[in-house]
Amino acid sequence: MLAEKYADKIAKIRSKYPDLRSTVMPLLYIAQEEYGGLDESSLREVAELCDLDPTEVKTIAGFYTMYWENDEKGYKKGKYWLQVCTDLPCALRGADQFFEQLLDHLGVEDGGTTEDGMFTVEHVMCLAACDKAPMLQCNFHFLENLDMEKMKAKIEEWRAEAKERENG
Ligand code: FES
Repeated sequence: MLAEKYADKIAKIRSKYPDLRSTVMPLLYIAQEEYGGLDESSLREVAELCDLDPTEVKTIAGFYTMYWENDEKGYKKGKYWLQVCTDLPCALRGADQFFEQLLDHLGVEDGGTTEDGMFTVEHVMCLAACDKAPMLQCNFHFLENLDMEKMKAKIEEWRAEAKERENG
């Protein structure tokens, strides 16, 4: 349950917003990261935490593209959502090739998720970091000036981090 596992984080978020309802967006991020996506039960959990109706929370989650809901087939994005910019300026700096190598390395197709549910990889248009290509956004954090060597090390770091989180 988020309330127990993220008690400190939630308390910190609450201290920033005088109105409990205003905590809905940061709480949706926590739920999404914890569960690898949002479904009925995680939306209900967030609703309870910020004193909103689950339908209101669902509407907010559905409106913003940075949130994703699991569909009825259970499809969900990986814990690490890698969005690689392959738009022209980045492509001119080798982003296309980098993207293909990353797909190969993780054994997925564009938009696919690794079997262990860790990584979803997709290409996106300009993320406004064109001079730092190849670059990607992972769960909304930028990683820039990448090559496959750096990327492989980062992937190992994320795997270790996820394992640690599972055990802790
Ligand atoms: Fe890739 Fe702008 S074209 S960040």
